[in-house]
Amino acid sequence: MKKTVLVSGGAGFIGSHVTVELIEAGYDVVVADNFSNCDTTCFEGVKKITGREDIPLVKMDFCDAAAVDKLFDGYPIDAVIHFAAYKAVGESVAKPVMYYKNNLQSFLNVLEAAEKHGGCNVLFSSSATVYGEPDELPVTEKSPRQPATSPYGNTKQICEDILSDTVKASSGAIKGIALRYFNPIGAHPSALIGELPRGVPNNLVPFITQTAIGKRECLSIFGNDYPTPDGTCQRDYIDIVDLAKAHVYAVTRMVEGKMKKDYEIFNIGTGRPVSVLELVNAFEKVNGIKLNYKFAPRREGDVTAIWADPTLANEEMGWKAGRSVEETLAAAWAWERHLAGK
Ligand code: UFG
Repeated sequence: MKKTVLVSGGAGFIGSHVTVELIEAGYDVVVADNFSNCDTTCFEGVKKITGREDIPLVKMDFCDAAAVDKLFDGYPIDAVIHFAAYKAVGESVAKPVMYYKNNLQSFLNVLEAAEKHGGCNVLFSSSATVYGEPDELPVTEKSPRQPATSPYGNTKQICEDILSDTVKASSGAIKGIALRYFNPIGAHPSALIGELPRGVPNNLVPFITQTAIGKRECLSIFGNDYPTPDGTCQRDYIDIVDLAKAHVYAVTRMVEGKMKKDYEIFNIGTGRPVSVLELVNAFEKVNGIKLNYKFAPRREGDVTAIWADPTLANEEMGWKAGRSVEETLAAAWAWERHLAGK
């Protein structure tokens, strides 16, 4: 029998790529989104890529407990992947109440509905931000979490703890996996779905592609005096399709009863540090573009360097990142051109 996966926030950047991979792996998917931070572009793209016009799309807010409950009544949900959350670090510092309310309430509603409906498999989208500025690199899942430096980061830590406690109390009815993403970048190779930031992008790659297309004048590289090989920060950039596939592995592990513990955590990264300057150079080279950039002061709150030890996900789940940074940056550029109609 086909299994059904509910994807909250499924019309967004990560959610849409995950929906494609789930459908291609044979899952039925219910997409639910309140469209607070996206439009229907990616959902339409998902339908085109998969050739499926019949993917259920529910417009709803996960902070509405009755609506979440109704969703669980309406579909035979075997697993939930919870993306629905606000995600801008700076905005969370300015509007902490809004962040805590939205990110915690929506997840609590999912768990409450799961409890009411006899249990569920719950996949939570967490972040490498929980490691803060790590003492040792690369970070493993056993590396200590550091006190969060923003309300956004804190909501990731709190939701991990809520999931872990709920699983513990549920006597096996609720199983949980937290995937800690490093830096997801890129777009689907079809160029039909990708990142669609509203306003000025906070993240590096959309800023690069928007500069390359002429929407932004110049990329500022925040800091070139860090204690790294070239002075710019290092991150673990993970291709969005590779990241999406990790969700299929995790869901399958849950629904097929292959988990070793009822609550598990996996790092989702490549294990390869790449500096901002290296990423910019790779973008220029693979796409044959000269990018307008300058060095600017450090951005507050940035960690110097972080990358994953992905061994656990590789060995336990059988998932491994496959695409090169060059392929990923070519896909990101193709998506930006698609948006510009070029
Ligand atoms: N950067 C620039 N110029 C820009 C944008 C970014 O130089 O215009 C640099 C940043 O300083 C950083 C690197 O590019 O060194 C990556 O920055 P991103 O904003 O793309 O990603 P972050 O590593 O800051 O963010 C990630 C996740 C967040 C998470 C955060 C916590 O995207 O979800 O880590 O540190 F909260």
